[in-house]
Amino acid sequence: GAVGKDGYRHYMEKELHEHPVVIGQTLQRVIDPVSKAVALPKFDFSLAEVPRVTMTACGSAYYAALVGRYWLEAEARVPVDIDVASELRYRAPPLTPGGMGLLISQSGETADTLAALRLLRRSDQRIVSILNVETSTMGRDSDVTLGMVAGPEISVASTKAFTAQLSVLAALTIAMGQARGTIEASRAQQMVSSLFDLPSRAAEVFQRVADIQAMAVIVAAARDVLYLGRGVCFPIALEGALKLKEISYIHAEAYAAGEMKHGPISLIDKDVPIVVIAPSTILFDKTLSNIQEAKARGGRILAFTDEKGAARLSGIAEQMVVLPDVDAFVAPILFTIPVQILAYEVALLKGTDVDQPRNLAKSVTVE
Ligand code: G6P
Repeated sequence: GAVGKDGYRHYMEKELHEHPVVIGQTLQRVIDPVSKAVALPKFDFSLAEVPRVTMTACGSAYYAALVGRYWLEAEARVPVDIDVASELRYRAPPLTPGGMGLLISQSGETADTLAALRLLRRSDQRIVSILNVETSTMGRDSDVTLGMVAGPEISVASTKAFTAQLSVLAALTIAMGQARGTIEASRAQQMVSSLFDLPSRAAEVFQRVADIQAMAVIVAAARDVLYLGRGVCFPIALEGALKLKEISYIHAEAYAAGEMKHGPISLIDKDVPIVVIAPSTILFDKTLSNIQEAKARGGRILAFTDEKGAARLSGIAEQMVVLPDVDAFVAPILFTIPVQILAYEVALLKGTDVDQPRNLAKSVTVE
């Protein structure tokens, strides 16, 4: 193809290294870098009056949507329904005309997401799509297309498209919150500056690769891995577990940390590493107590945290990857990067076909 690996071993490795640039370019597309005002394409309806948002997607894009749900509900105070596209399309959800159907897709061609788009259209929803390929079928069938600027993604396992999707969702959240009066100007400024700070914070993640590799050695030796997170970091745990399954063929399961005691706690022993996504947000103490429950049952704790969190996790976590402290709003974007790198490093140790994992397709255009 026209896109080379630029000296990297795999497209996935190259695309992981593109996170900082892709986040920066995508943000410049949706937020004016000079005025710092959110600058989305024109909507022919009012964001203030949307009664409900129905979000749908498949795969990693669905996990990006889950983060978006937290943001839209908590920050813009808009009711959100969400489901994977293959379920939504058969659910017959009762929808209020004039609601927003919000689709997320890297390719814009995924069959289930496209079918869900058409269902939402028939239910008189305004169709907004967050797409990497804007000339795709979904792009043509949408009322508004919000483009990510991820560039071609060749690796079957999605990486940079995910942080680009989150960057667009963050801007949409600010726009909706401002339109609805739930985000004040000073808070919007704070959110925007934490977003514009992300490319340099994201670049710093690559200084932590040795720590991620140390974690990868433990994960690569396991048969099963449990990923835990809370709030906006629960979808990042889901993304980490999915990526690990996809490219290393190690079974992984992600759980909302507080739900662990209702089931997976029975699996915990020294052979099941527990990967926790634990930035020091308001949910940190809750996650920490879940980690201690797991540790008390012999679980080996591998933690992605920040500098503040590291102080509290030392002595508890066997391995830590410590990221810079950032505003809690942007933490899920930053934490995605090392979690995806972990899956990549494990796949390298396993010697799998990283860019073309068995049985998977880049774009699933059949139901
Ligand atoms: C496939 C890919 C995933 C991707 C999903 C959705 O399963 O392997 O990486 O997340 O499709 O693709 P889309 O193009 O709709 O984002």
